[in-house]
Amino acid sequence: MKKSYDKLASLFKRKGYIWGPSPEIYEGGVAGFYDLGPLGTMLWRKVADTVRMNYFEHSFYEITAPLIMPKKVWEASGHLGGFTDPLIKCIKCGSVYRTDKLITGLFPKEEVDGLTYKEYDEKIEKLGIKCLKCKMQLSRTVPQDMMLKTTIGLDKEAYLRPETATTTYLPFKRYYEFFRRKLPFGVFQLGKAFRNEISPRHGLIRTREFNQAEAQLFIFKGDKNKWEAWSEFKDAELNLYSCKLQGRGLRKPKQVLLKDAVKNKLLQSKAYAACLGICYKIVLDLGFNPKRLRFRQHFPNERAFYALDAWDIEWHSDFFGWVELAGVHDRCDYDLKQHAKFSGQDLRVLNNGRKEVPHILEIAFGIERLVYCLLEQCYDEEKERTVLRLPPHMAPITIMVFPLLNKDKIPEKAKEVEDFLLEEDFYAEYDGTGSIGRRYRRADEAGTPFCITIDHQTLEDDSVTVRDRDSMKQLRVKISELPEFIEMAVSGEIDF
Ligand code: GLY
Repeated sequence: MKKSYDKLASLFKRKGYIWGPSPEIYEGGVAGFYDLGPLGTMLWRKVADTVRMNYFEHSFYEITAPLIMPKKVWEASGHLGGFTDPLIKCIKCGSVYRTDKLITGLFPKEEVDGLTYKEYDEKIEKLGIKCLKCKMQLSRTVPQDMMLKTTIGLDKEAYLRPETATTTYLPFKRYYEFFRRKLPFGVFQLGKAFRNEISPRHGLIRTREFNQAEAQLFIFKGDKNKWEAWSEFKDAELNLYSCKLQGRGLRKPKQVLLKDAVKNKLLQSKAYAACLGICYKIVLDLGFNPKRLRFRQHFPNERAFYALDAWDIEWHSDFFGWVELAGVHDRCDYDLKQHAKFSGQDLRVLNNGRKEVPHILEIAFGIERLVYCLLEQCYDEEKERTVLRLPPHMAPITIMVFPLLNKDKIPEKAKEVEDFLLEEDFYAEYDGTGSIGRRYRRADEAGTPFCITIDHQTLEDDSVTVRDRDSMKQLRVKISELPEFIEMAVSGEIDF
């Protein structure tokens, strides 16, 4: 059945996943700002924790830095002046658009990745694109600064960070001591970043305030083929869409073993390839369908100013086409050199007796995008019901507990079961309102994978029914065995 975006967005609103634009009660809100409702926030936390745990398991330590930094930091990083989007304006009514998004919004099959501003304008002319509001001619494309400005104290110019990365680099000398002067080492941040997008659209996919989870590996240039994480990923097979393949028109991405990608110089080092491997593992752990994933290499003129090489992991949305979930960047020694120059501090450290500025490899996730894309992937409209097939380990509420009838001490028993499951650290919730059928439908729409029903038989033998969201089948289980049963069901070991 063809899915409808309006229905999907209205379900996410109704079930407390995504609200906005925010603040809704003031003139319908401001584009690019959203609230996550109660279930949205619980899902957000599970997504963030999955990324966090994966970083930690691959030896990245978490740090926390300020969101606001003085102007000088952003001059050094290159974001002031260099961090821009292509902007086009209506010459009559002044409406503004992001050129690439304007083109793909009207012509989804048009390729815009890697185009120069001049090529954008040629496309606009060739496709006859005019102002969406007044149908008049559009200006030339110009760069638009994306930094959000603020003031510290009375007059110190400052900016909200457009990425966590730069603020992660600044305490480099502190890390060096913390890691006992031994490279490589890894650090990450999970926190807010701000970008003054020209015309944010597509809900949570492009917002002006969002959370990033960005991991940074500090490694000497000469050690980029020696990182220990490589052994875990060398045999991983990824769907790689290199510039070369993209450049040849209709060619598709290729499944390539990471060890072959390094051997053939498609990826420049083992450590960089391992970063792609970590990124892929995270996305699979979150429950993304590998058939809808690809790694797309940036064209040289598309890369951020700091990047020597850049690949995005992209997921295919039914509504928005390919969406970037994360970027993996080889930032070489760009950042530390810039901050050394602007701060006047020596950021070189000893490598075999010689002072050297380390390179940085980065994995950059946007958390809200992951939340939206996972929700979209799991949204399903069936003939009889709408169901959110979230992987059980990601679902905000794991178990609903229902009394079959609201009499004969059945509700009391159901409350006892809910308390028992909460004590066992499950996300469980009681619902005694409406018919049992409606309660199942409500749970399906919320993405809750299992529903437990307490009936007359429960009062006799302490057994309950457990209903599986996806198959809608039920099994009878003893209350005392529920914790083990649910754990197995969450990991897919129970055949309903
Ligand atoms: N730090 C890289 C990015 O924001 O995409």
